[in-house]
Amino acid sequence: MKLQYSIIISFLCSLVFGQNTSFEPGKVWKDTDGVHINAHGGGVIFVDGTYYWYGEFKTEGKGGNTALKGVSCYSSKDLYNWNNEGIVLKVEDDPNSEITKGCIMERPKVVFNKKTGKYIMWFHLEFKGKGYDSARAAVAISDSPKGPFAYKKSYRPNKGVWPMDFKEEYKLASTTERNLKSWSPEWVTAIKNGMLVRRDFKKGQMSRDMTVYVDDNEKGYLIHSSEENLTLHISELTDDYLDFTEKWTRVEPAGHNEAPAIFKKEGIYYMITSGCTGWDPNEARSFKSKSIWGPWEALGNPCFGKDADFTFHSQSTYIFQVQGKKDQFIFMADRWKPDNPIDGTYIWLPIKCIEEKPVLKWLDNWNLAYFTEN
Ligand code: GAL
Repeated sequence: MKLQYSIIISFLCSLVFGQNTSFEPGKVWKDTDGVHINAHGGGVIFVDGTYYWYGEFKTEGKGGNTALKGVSCYSSKDLYNWNNEGIVLKVEDDPNSEITKGCIMERPKVVFNKKTGKYIMWFHLEFKGKGYDSARAAVAISDSPKGPFAYKKSYRPNKGVWPMDFKEEYKLASTTERNLKSWSPEWVTAIKNGMLVRRDFKKGQMSRDMTVYVDDNEKGYLIHSSEENLTLHISELTDDYLDFTEKWTRVEPAGHNEAPAIFKKEGIYYMITSGCTGWDPNEARSFKSKSIWGPWEALGNPCFGKDADFTFHSQSTYIFQVQGKKDQFIFMADRWKPDNPIDGTYIWLPIKCIEEKPVLKWLDNWNLAYFTEN
């Protein structure tokens, strides 16, 4: 009942002041210029009273999923009304640049490094014209959350380094494993035992869908879909967040997880992921662990209500905490529109933990009062 009052008041305010006063998941979300927000696969940070939302700037038509402009940024004081700050990491005209116009730049995430005072952006990079074969994690740096970000470099992470707790016997490739039939029981066992880790050992591990997480102790981690999207890797970042420490682990080998989003509540880490069906939605998964290094316990689908089997027709991208609010976490997901990517919409929902399980319920319209009223 109370919630309905706050929604009605919000609605009246929006009529009077022309501002957004609530979230309407899946609807067109206009920025302060009246244009649908263009920041897909994004992430949010909070700096000195302002939230910044970074995302993929998509364009019209089928080619609109490639990076023709770069990474966009929006700013907001209240999370409902967003001001377009423009493109903060621009694609380059130089055809030899790793981020030349027409490459693929996905899921940009920005974190602040307290030691260096720099804003660090990580994103999934695919070199132009190579489909999704490059599978690289790329990094850019800025002095300000509003950019401009300067592109630094890209990696195949953990080149020449075995994951922690990797058995000695797994380091040796069998001569026959490459011929195993995909998804046969023997193949699944071979994947679990590191067949693709061995394949990519010299070259560096794959990094496609990804997120970045900074823990309470300021340690940073890249969490990335690797091994042909079959296994998630968690790779510790160096103190400046620009490189890897060579400490890394595998999560859910052969579990086929993409779109990782993570948060920590009362000392427990929770992760939401999706399955691997490209732009089409599928059933989300959830995990918890007492340590970033695992073991991660699978908790099943965190979504409830209509279309819960399809993550409400979206795919996870990020989870962030409302500033200064201990128990208020917002789940961000994308409703992709691959035929005209610019039309993709955003699903923002409150994420609750009930008996140490993340729970996402569909809401047509909600505002931050939901957290205290429910
Ligand atoms: C999805 C992934 C997106 C994008 C897409 C391409 O599974 O989450 O970020 O890479 O595949 O098909």
